[in-house]
Amino acid sequence: MAMMMSRGGSRVANTALLAAGARFLSTASATRALASESLLAAAKGFGAEVGAPKWASRTSLAYWVRAPSSVRNMSTLSLEEKQNDEKLVQPDSTSGNAGGNKDEKRVVSYWGIQASKVTKPDGTEWKWNCFMPWETYKSDLSIDLKKHHAPVTFMDKMAYWTVKALRFPTDIFFQRRYGCRAMMLETVAAVPGMVGGMLLHCKSLRRFEHSGGWIKALLEEAENERMHLMTFMEVAKPRWYERALMFAVQGVFFNAYFLGYLLSPKFAHRMVGYLEEEAIHSYTEFLKELDKGNIENVPAPAIAIDYWQLPPDSTLRDVVMVVRADEAHHRDVNHFASDIHYQGKELREAPAPIGYH
Ligand SMILES: [Fe+2]
Ligand SMILES: [Fe+2]
Repeated sequence: MAMMMSRGGSRVANTALLAAGARFLSTASATRALASESLLAAAKGFGAEVGAPKWASRTSLAYWVRAPSSVRNMSTLSLEEKQNDEKLVQPDSTSGNAGGNKDEKRVVSYWGIQASKVTKPDGTEWKWNCFMPWETYKSDLSIDLKKHHAPVTFMDKMAYWTVKALRFPTDIFFQRRYGCRAMMLETVAAVPGMVGGMLLHCKSLRRFEHSGGWIKALLEEAENERMHLMTFMEVAKPRWYERALMFAVQGVFFNAYFLGYLLSPKFAHRMVGYLEEEAIHSYTEFLKELDKGNIENVPAPAIAIDYWQLPPDSTLRDVVMVVRADEAHHRDVNHFASDIHYQGKELREAPAPIGYH
């Protein structure tokens, strides 16, 4: 009986949501919608009223609207309808080719899982599946790019010279092909955050203790680096031997970093700090080449304009500027993490810089 009531209740709720869905698709109704408690929950992270972190205020996210995309609740279909619908695979006319999947199809789901529909402030549809508006931000370009951690201890010097040594073959391989170089380096740069976050996650489970937000901070870094890659993929296409090289490099680097982080997170974070310092240098060289006209300053890819909330007429130069600022933030986070270990503490003892862009 209780189950029936709960099913009935959920149906009523679903019907109410679906009926409201059409209204929530435009920004014109956003104000009214946000006044509703139920939609506040759906619009989590959109504004100060719902306890958004401080970065949210910089991104004007109160204007984004998320709503159910379908007018049909699959859980209420008859078995026959479900069986028929499970066979249906229709082209998704609503989401275009965004999200990095050019052959995207919408699969009708028996489980009632529906993608949220999100609109921009101007009422146009949010076209990316790979990231959402509340994950976008305006880059802090005022960050000090010259900050450097002088290696003093033996371990720091080892981390510093390991990175310097890695730069040597990279320079020879890519020379002045900075677009390609950036793309390939981002495939490596996105690994440490994921490995560190994963190991801290496991440690948190093993020891029954909090992480101080560091799992999230490191996974955010990995995601940010991956977005750099998604951006540079639009301006430089990898050749077959570069793809092959990536397989080998990822296989070696992932495992080496995994072992390195297990043995000494202090060393691992210091090394990433120096890697980020090198990344800043590489992007500065990239900018010089753009300014000299050796690399064409093409319009910024659409994904970059949306991810970094750039003006619509932005160029590749603007993109390199924001990516370089990101690298400077990663440099700070990783040197900070290493410093915490140097002070004989665990990362969880110092609050993690979540949302530090
Ligand atoms: Fe990067
Ligand atoms: Fe980075």
